[in-house]
Amino acid sequence: RPPMRVGLLGSGVVGSGTCRVLERNRALIRARAGRDITLTMLAARNLPRARQLVGPEVEVVDDAMRVVRHPLIDVVVEVIGGCTVARELVLQAIAHGKHVVTANKALLALHGDEIFAAARAQGVMVAFEGAVAVSIPIVKALREGLTANRIEWVAGIVNGTSNYILTEMRDKGVAFAAALAEAQRLGYAEADPRFDVEGIDAGHKLALLASMAFGMPLRFDAMHIEGIGALQAADFRHAEQLGYRIKLLGVARRQAAGIELRVHPALVPARSLMAGVDGSMNAVMVKGDAAGLTMYYGAGAGSEQTASAVIADLVDVARLADAEPAQRAPALAFPPEAQSAWAV
Ligand code: HSE
Repeated sequence: RPPMRVGLLGSGVVGSGTCRVLERNRALIRARAGRDITLTMLAARNLPRARQLVGPEVEVVDDAMRVVRHPLIDVVVEVIGGCTVARELVLQAIAHGKHVVTANKALLALHGDEIFAAARAQGVMVAFEGAVAVSIPIVKALREGLTANRIEWVAGIVNGTSNYILTEMRDKGVAFAAALAEAQRLGYAEADPRFDVEGIDAGHKLALLASMAFGMPLRFDAMHIEGIGALQAADFRHAEQLGYRIKLLGVARRQAAGIELRVHPALVPARSLMAGVDGSMNAVMVKGDAAGLTMYYGAGAGSEQTASAVIADLVDVARLADAEPAQRAPALAFPPEAQSAWAV
């Protein structure tokens, strides 16, 4: 089969990791995808730095709109982040018949309904494994592995930065601001780190998880969200004395009246598996009626950790792009026929 040509938008933490892993694992990715996945264009703000990431065969441009409209490009990878420019680029890519892979949870939580509807109308795929708990294949677990289950609840630690800060404050007595600065230096934090510490990023991810788990529309607006900014050293001491640890949890639970959605710091028993999820790691627990309790653990932030999910999506697109849309339904989000009755 002919190679699948990729236009990558963004050369930051995730974009650079994607270039590195695509290049390093080229042969095995080709074998698994059944065709070559060729990085063809890279759009970046810092052109000299972007050129150092890729070989001379890749066209490096500063105009991302050129990439999404370029006839040579089969699939657009959006790892710019933010909502305004990214939304326009993704919608344009879809309008030009390109498949889209994105790790942009804010974009999907706020504009996903519009984006997925456009993709359905065009018959293209929008894949987003990297948008939720980066390295953990939780999108695939919910859509494929657990597809036979009626999900009762989904809960987890889905923001690496805030979990890193909580761990540093608890274990080393590091001050909040210093722990956040370190998370930024390590490339974990959002461009605006308030999204991490105020629970907004976790809320974006929870909206996506709930939509997949319960077949409900994206309801970021319907959520109770509270961040970690008010926690103090004494809170960690008191939690410890009572046999608990403080974790920022996202919870989506089926209730008689509808689906309950909330993000807030919570006391979890110190001996539970969730309490042992430290540093920038994430974990998601899912309770299904048939499978029972399952739990998924892995890096929640990072360059190649996110690239791992982005490239998994590229392999999915490479395998399924030529299939009938109905056959590749698992890679498309929230087809209306799959949305069950729900209420909040
Ligand atoms: N800022 C995010 C986090 C990156 O810390 O979890 C991964 O989505």
